[in-house]
Amino acid sequence: MAIEVIPTGAALGAEIRGLDMSKPLTGAEFEAVQQAWYDHIVLLFRGQKITDDDLIAFSKHFGELDIAPASATDMAGSQAKSRPEIWIISNVVENGKPIGALGDKEAEWHTDMSYVAEPPMASVLHSREIPSTGGDTSFANMYKALEALPADLRAAVEGRMCNHDASTTSVGELRAGADAVLDVRAAPGAKHPIVVTHPVTGGKALYLGRRLNAYIEGYSVAESEALLDRLWAHCAKPEFSWAHKWKVGDLLIWDNRCAIHRRDGFDGSERRVMHRTQIKGRAPR
Ligand code: OGA
Ligand code: MN
Repeated sequence: MAIEVIPTGAALGAEIRGLDMSKPLTGAEFEAVQQAWYDHIVLLFRGQKITDDDLIAFSKHFGELDIAPASATDMAGSQAKSRPEIWIISNVVENGKPIGALGDKEAEWHTDMSYVAEPPMASVLHSREIPSTGGDTSFANMYKALEALPADLRAAVEGRMCNHDASTTSVGELRAGADAVLDVRAAPGAKHPIVVTHPVTGGKALYLGRRLNAYIEGYSVAESEALLDRLWAHCAKPEFSWAHKWKVGDLLIWDNRCAIHRRDGFDGSERRVMHRTQIKGRAPR
């Protein structure tokens, strides 16, 4: 059966039907998925009853995997028992230790691991347990955000580099071993151009990592803060985004080179367990 591509109708995202990731993909199936991914940036596959091995096997079609990022807390729970490619996102605590990262708080708009020199081009997220409400994940199309950027703002940021802070997670918590940032000009992390070209589609996109402790090189801190505030307010407009309400077994793959994402908070008395892989990328240019 040929796969079906059903666009969300929003600024990005499509659902793919007719694929079971517990079985190997054919070359033709993968090519259709990959093309849909370039076209829609985020793909949703529902009802995937898969193991970590299946998640890794599906992810590896797109490229080599990165190991999971550093987290805020010591997770001697199931993270340690898992595989180095799998990043567990969860609020569940076992024997006094969280089994995963990010807890139950809101995760602000961000791009995954942009604080390293060669951030992952893609992330793949599979849901194992989902709260009855909350914890939705939203995505914003950074091709469209750049296209609609006011001309003066584009002129102010095009050709500029931004430092992407490495000290905190997307829920704003200090990573294990990191020092609090007192001066954004000295924040640890990686510098990337603000306007980038997608290496496959050739499309130009805004590349924003995370707002907290970001700094645009060559400006005063006050000027950089003002430009960053305008950029983030622009990208957060609903016309660029799509929100996903999770069901158990949903799997999303997104392109970190042309999308940012965020997660709603949820009631911490409910369980949310997600397993993620991240696919190696190269330095954004
Ligand atoms: C991620 C992330 C959001 C979520 O996997 O990179 O930001 O829905 N997760 O848990
Ligand atoms: Mn993320």
